Amino acid sequence: MKGAVVALALPGAREWDFGDYPYGLEPLTLPVPGNDWLSDGTADTDLVDCYAGLADALRTGGLRTEPAAADDLEKLFWFRWIAGHHISFVIWRLLAGCLARLAEGDRDRWTTTAAAIEYVRAYSAMLIYTASSTQRIYNAVIRPSMYRLHSTFSGTWSADYPAVRSLFRARRAPKGVTVGGDALLREARLSHQIHLGVASKLVVDGRSLLQHLVDNPAAHQPRMWETVFDCYFLTARAPVTGHEVLSQFLRRCKAVVTDLATNGLYPAVADYDDFVPEELRTPDVLACERDLSDVVLRAAGLAVGAVRPAGRNERETEAVN
Ligand code: HEM
Repeated sequence: MKGAVVALALPGAREWDFGDYPYGLEPLTLPVPGNDWLSDGTADTDLVDCYAGLADALRTGGLRTEPAAADDLEKLFWFRWIAGHHISFVIWRLLAGCLARLAEGDRDRWTTTAAAIEYVRAYSAMLIYTASSTQRIYNAVIRPSMYRLHSTFSGTWSADYPAVRSLFRARRAPKGVTVGGDALLREARLSHQIHLGVASKLVVDGRSLLQHLVDNPAAHQPRMWETVFDCYFLTARAPVTGHEVLSQFLRRCKAVVTDLATNGLYPAVADYDDFVPEELRTPDVLACERDLSDVVLRAAGLAVGAVRPAGRNERETEAVN
């Protein structure tokens, strides 16, 4: 299938090549949860080269496309909603891989924990990105689309989330984490704070819906709900290679940073309400918002092995204590 091949291929380094036009979409293909991605035995140097090309293009202002006009905002925020979720799904899988390696007694615990911290930060960035819609468009277009598919549609139906859910409950460091546990928990708490903030910014009662979720609802959910969730979010399940997953990740990260470079996080042509909940006004959240493009592209760099996790100072501090 030619279309599928394009959607699984690496992006070019410059102009928009995601979907059929700027702010169009592509389906995401992931293995079923629990199944690892396949290895095709080929070297992944082209992934590293692709990341380097994108990082360079971002630095030199080469990632631009047609700006969204006022009439395009529904299309733009719909793109952000779906693409931001896709990136989150891949991040959860990468994070779950880190947690599994730590639980098995990874020999380089610090590097794996530091990578996990950066993946959590990138998920926080995606929460901010997907929530950048105006309240009007969120409530008139995005929210009703979920309920049209199922009257109790919920984020708890995601198939990829259960593997990382306990981290986001952030009560204790995950198994196997020795150094960097506090920093990882802080990052997970920040992400939860942002999720509460965006829920309360966009939905009446959103904060309390998220705060009162029952513990581990996924354990009882019929498999059909996961499929409904996947269909809504244009996600197919099939055996795919690591190269194909990471190519899809790079395609989306490039599209997102191109959008941000072109339109800004809060496009000037959009009509925003002034209400910003306190959870979204803290220095940590504002820093994540300011560095959004770097945070998401670094996650791609980490995933393809082109960059090393940051956070050396934290490591040294905790090692001394
Ligand atoms: C990248 C974007 C997002 C992702 C990946 C995501 C994912 C999730 C997940 C996995 C849950 C279940 C949590 C659990 O089981 O502990 C959830 C719940 C929830 N999310 Fe999000 N979320 C995103 C953005 C948003 C935004 C923008 C809003 C604002 C309206 C929001 C509002 C909620 C609410 C109200 C709940 C709890 C109620 C329910 O799902 O039925 N989320 N989300």
